[in-house]
Amino acid sequence: MSSADENLPAMPRHIAVIMDGNGRWAYRQHLPRVAGHRRGAEVVREMVQSCVDIGIPYLTLFAFSTENWRRPVLEVRLLMNLFRLLLRREARKLHENGVRLCIIGDRSALDCDIRQLVEEAEALTCNNKRLQLNLAVNYGGRWDIVQAARAAMAAVQAGELAPEDFSEAHIAQHLCLADIPEPDLLIRTGGEERISNFLIWQLAYTEFYFSDTLWPDFDRMALEYALQSFAHRQRRFGRTGDQVLEGDCSASD
Ligand code: IPE
Ligand code: IPE
Ligand code: MG
Repeated sequence: MSSADENLPAMPRHIAVIMDGNGRWAYRQHLPRVAGHRRGAEVVREMVQSCVDIGIPYLTLFAFSTENWRRPVLEVRLLMNLFRLLLRREARKLHENGVRLCIIGDRSALDCDIRQLVEEAEALTCNNKRLQLNLAVNYGGRWDIVQAARAAMAAVQAGELAPEDFSEAHIAQHLCLADIPEPDLLIRTGGEERISNFLIWQLAYTEFYFSDTLWPDFDRMALEYALQSFAHRQRRFGRTGDQVLEGDCSASD
């Protein structure tokens, strides 16, 4: 590390966000829950712009979990409609802004027209390099591990992989987000301190930041606070603090 770099705060390359608190925000304003989700979608736009401005290359947002189907049918329908709207209205703007959009999660349960919009938005933005925005929709960390294990098992069945050679890498390479760095920073808004089945494999060494701010109130300043907190962490990846200070601080062996 050069002396100039030492003066710069450490910046995450990849931020993952559990955007929680839309319902409570609406409740406090005496509005229906959907108003919270609508405002939450605006904040997604602001968050994407902030990451573009700051120069964060990867942003992964948890929009709908595999467990969120348990919500009232009407709320699920409204959330899916918001997703439709976002894909229709925002894909071109994201493209013009140099953002690549990737949807992660089990698409098979999504409506046909949504799947079509997803494919179009991904194709339109696939060569953009400024920011990769991963939107997790019908995503669950356990689902992700199972689908990766299934792919690895297929290799065993095809005789391409001996069971005794099976390793972490064979799961990791088939996970969603396998081709980008694991999240450096996880932000969860809304005051809860749990993972709720988000990227359970990929978060193994991620720094966590829990904020009481409800997602619809999470502004640029709130993001700056999270980044400041991150800048003061010492990431040890199993090593001692002294080893890290000596510069031996990568995640790999
Ligand atoms: C997060 O806000 C959005 C989704 C899970 C889709 P919530 O809707 O969970 O808001 P609270 O937790 O009820 O306030
Ligand atoms: C997590 O929020 C899922 C998303 C933000 C999409 P939830 O509000 O669904 O989480 P729990 O149920 O409180 O753990
Ligand atoms: Mg919630």
